[in-house]
Amino acid sequence: MKFNTKTIHGGQKHDTAFGAVMPPIYQTSTYAQTTPGGHKGFEYSRTHNPTRHALENAFASIENGKFGLAFGSGLAAIDAVIKLLKPGDEVISTNDLYGGSYRLFTKIFQDFGIKFHFIGMQNTTNIEELINENTKIIWVETPTNPMMNIIDIKAVSEISKKYKLILAVDNTFATPYLQQPLDLGADIVMHSATKYLGGHSDVVMGALVVKDKELADRLYFIQNASGAVCGPQDSFLVLRGIKTLHVRMQRHCENGKDVAEYLRNHPKVKKVYWPGFEEHPNHLIAKSQMNDFGGMISFTTKGNNYDDAIKIVENLKVFTLAESLGGVESLCGHPASMTHASIPKTEREKTGVVDSLIRLSVGIEDIEDLIADLNQAIN
Ligand SMILES: Cc1ncc(COP(=O)(O)O)c(C=O)c1O
Repeated sequence: MKFNTKTIHGGQKHDTAFGAVMPPIYQTSTYAQTTPGGHKGFEYSRTHNPTRHALENAFASIENGKFGLAFGSGLAAIDAVIKLLKPGDEVISTNDLYGGSYRLFTKIFQDFGIKFHFIGMQNTTNIEELINENTKIIWVETPTNPMMNIIDIKAVSEISKKYKLILAVDNTFATPYLQQPLDLGADIVMHSATKYLGGHSDVVMGALVVKDKELADRLYFIQNASGAVCGPQDSFLVLRGIKTLHVRMQRHCENGKDVAEYLRNHPKVKKVYWPGFEEHPNHLIAKSQMNDFGGMISFTTKGNNYDDAIKIVENLKVFTLAESLGGVESLCGHPASMTHASIPKTEREKTGVVDSLIRLSVGIEDIEDLIADLNQAIN
C-alpha cells in the first residue's frame, strides 16, 4: 500500500463480531476467561486492548515500522524510551528541542543517574566527539521546536550504527506524511500523537514505532510495567484522525507556504524560520528527507521586543493563542513564556528562542482569513 491508503487501511481488519468498519471502542478494563488463561488474547487493558491494538497497528503501518505502541502522552512515550537505560548511561540530544522533553531529561532522569548532552546537530560531526562507552541513545527532533532546524537523519543514523547506539527521532512536527525516519535509518520513531496524528486538538497521546522485534519487546515490557497507556476512547479518536492525516497535511503545507511567504515580505518581521525557504540553512537536507515543508513556522519581529510579541499573539483572532500544534485550527504561541518557559533564558536564547519569537501552527482554514488575521495583528 502507498502512504495515503495506509492512513486509512494500514494494519486494520474489520471487526469480527459484527463487521464494524471502524473498531469498536472496547471500554473495558478486563476480559472474561473460561479457565485460567482461557482468553481470546486479551487479559487486562493495561497490557492489551483491542481498540488500542488497532491504533498501534496503524502507527506501525504509517511509519513503515513493524511494531507500534500507544501511550497516555508524548512525554509518556519518551519516558518509556529513556527507561531502556540504566544509571551511568548517556544520551546525546538535540539542544533545540521541545521544552517538556528537556524538562523530563534534566529534571527527572538526570536524578536517576542518566547523563544528557545537548548539542546542535545541524552539523552532525559534533555528535561523534561526545560518544564514549556509556553512550546509548541519540535523541533527534527534526524539524526542531520551535526553531525549525533540520537534522540529517541519515547522517546521524550512520553514526548511530557505527557505534551501535539507538537512534530515536521525535517525528511530531513532520509526521510520516513528510518524513519516515525508520526508512532513513532510525531505530525508534516517537510522536506526540496529540498533534498532527490526532489532528483535532481533542486528545493527548504518545506513540512509538520500531522495526526490531527485540527492541519492541523491551518497549512493550516497559509500556506494561510502567503502565502509562492511553484509554480506548482516545485510541479511537486518534485512529480516526490518522485516516485524514494525508489530506490535512497537504493543506497544512499549502497554507504554511503562503503564510511563510507573507511574513517574509512584512516590513515589521525580522526573520522567518521555515525549512521551505532556499535560504534556510538546512533547506537542502529538508528537501531530500521531507516530502514538503509543513505548517509550522516561527518568526521574530524587528526590535525583538517582548511586549510587541505579546500584543501580536493577543490580537490574533483566527489563530488561537494556545499551547500545542497540529490541529485543524490555526494556533499561535509565544515559546519564551509558554512551551519553552522551563528552559533557562540564557539556554533558550542560545538556540534562538528570543523574547520576540512567535510560533505558528498553521491550520487548514481558508488562507485569505489567515493572512488577514496576521495582517491586522502585526500592523
Ligand atoms: C515535538 C514534541 N515532542 C513531544 C511533545 C510532548 O507531547 P505530549 O504533550 O503529548 O506529552 C510535544 C508537545 O508539545 C512536542 O511538541
